[in-house]
Amino acid sequence: MDRIRIVGGNPLNGTIAISGAKNAALPLMIASLLTEETLTLDNVPRLADVAMLKRILGNHGVDCMVHGKRAGQNGLSGETLDLTAGAIVDTTAPYEMVSRMRASFWVIGPLIARMGQARVSLPGGCAIGTRPVDLFIEALKCLGADIDIDGGNVVARAPRGLVGNRVVFPRVTVGATHVTMMAAALARGETVIENAAREPEIVDLAQCLTKMGARIAGAGTATIHIEGVDRLGAARHSVMPDRIETGTYAMAVAMTGGDVLLEGASPAILEKPLQVLSEVGAEISATNSGIHVRRNGAGLSPVDVVTAPFPGFPTDLQAQLMALVCRAQGTSHIRETIFENRFMHVQELARLGADIHLDGQVAIVRGVSRLRGAQVMATDLRASVSLVIAGLAAEGETVVNRVYHLDRGFERIEEKLGGCGAAIERLTA
Ligand code: EPU
Repeated sequence: MDRIRIVGGNPLNGTIAISGAKNAALPLMIASLLTEETLTLDNVPRLADVAMLKRILGNHGVDCMVHGKRAGQNGLSGETLDLTAGAIVDTTAPYEMVSRMRASFWVIGPLIARMGQARVSLPGGCAIGTRPVDLFIEALKCLGADIDIDGGNVVARAPRGLVGNRVVFPRVTVGATHVTMMAAALARGETVIENAAREPEIVDLAQCLTKMGARIAGAGTATIHIEGVDRLGAARHSVMPDRIETGTYAMAVAMTGGDVLLEGASPAILEKPLQVLSEVGAEISATNSGIHVRRNGAGLSPVDVVTAPFPGFPTDLQAQLMALVCRAQGTSHIRETIFENRFMHVQELARLGADIHLDGQVAIVRGVSRLRGAQVMATDLRASVSLVIAGLAAEGETVVNRVYHLDRGFERIEEKLGGCGAAIERLTA
C-alpha cells in the first residue's frame, strides 16, 4: 500500500493547477444513464473514484471512451470522456459496488426515470457517519415510485413512468437533490424541489442536464423547478473546478507560508472559506487566472467556524481548517453540523502534537507553537489530506499511510505540492 512521506518546513511558492471537481464529475457521469445518446464530459479529474464509477456505469451498459490527447495537451489537464448508454443492460447496482462508493447509489434516479425500475444496494455504513438514504426514498416515492427494501436493496418500480410532484426536503441533502433533479427531468409534468441543496455542483449538473434538453429553473437556490420532458439527448459539458481541492491548497499555503496561484480556481464558489482564511491571516486575491494565496511570516489567528450547507463553510474543508488552526495563536472552535462522526483526524493530528479537545460536535483547538512529524493514517479522504497539510508544517518526517483515500479525491497531490517546493514523495509498497 502506498504511503506519502513529507519533510515539513518548506514554504509553498508557485502555481497549482486546479482539477475538475470530483463531486461534480460523479453526478455528471451518472447523468449519462438518462439518454441513449452520447454525453461528452471535459475536464474530468483522474481520480480513483472516477475510475470506479466508470466500472460501475459499465455494468449498467454505459460505454465509456476516453479521448486521446491532443497536441499540446499534457497529463495536467483532465480527461475527456464520451459516455454512451445506448442500451441499459442491467438496472441492478450490487452491494460490492455501492458499498465501495456511496455516490454510486445515485444511479437509482436515472435508472427508475428511464427504465421504470431499479434495484440498488443500500450503501451501508461509512467512516464519517451513518448516512442514511431515507430522503432519496421519500423523494422518489413523491414522484410516484413504489419502493421496497429487499435483501439489503432498494427496489424501485414505476412501470408507467414517474410523475412530477412537490418534493420538500426536511434537511438539505446534496445527493438526494441531484437524484431528484435527474429523475424529475424525465417525469411527466412539473416537479418543485423545496429546501434543495444550493451547492455549485447542483448548478453544474443542472446546466449539463439543460444542455441535454431538460427544463430546469432555480438550481443554486432553495427552490428548483423541473418541467419533465420525454427524452434527453447528446451534450458536451466541462466539469467545474474543484472548490474543495482549491480550499485545501489555500489552507496548505496559509499553513506553510509562501505565495501560490491556484490556477483555474473560481473565487465565487469559495466565499466563506476564503473569508475564514483571511481571518486566519492569509492574504487572498482573485485574479483573471485564479486565486492568489499568500502568507508572510506573521502568526495565525484562531477562528470560530460552523460547517453548513452551501454557501456556509463546507464540511469537506473542516479537517483541513482544523489542521491549519492547530498552529494558531489562541483557541479555535470548529462545530461540525453535517456529519456526526467527522472527527477521525483529531486523534491523528494529536500524534503530530496538536492540542484538540472534543465536546460533542465541537472541536476546541488550542494552538501550539510547533508540530512534530510522525506516522499517521486516516479513514477518509478529507481527514487524510488534513494530515498532509499538518505534515507540511511539522518538524521532521511525517508519513501518511493509506494513501488510497487521498487518491480517491486529489489528483497528483504529491506532484502539485512538490512543484511548489514541498518535500513530499510517494513511497510505493
Ligand atoms: N442524509 C440523510 N438522509 C438521506 C440523505 C442524507 O439523513 O437520505 C443526511 C446525511 O447523513 C448527512 C446530511 O444529510 O448528515 C447531508 O448529506 P448529503 O446528502 O448532503 O451528502 P452526500 O450527498 O452524501 C455530498 C458529497 C460529500 C459532502 C456532502 C455534504 C459527493 C459525492 N459527496 O455527500 O463529499 O461532504 O455532500 O456537502 O458529492 C467528500 O467529497 O469527501 C464528501 C464526503
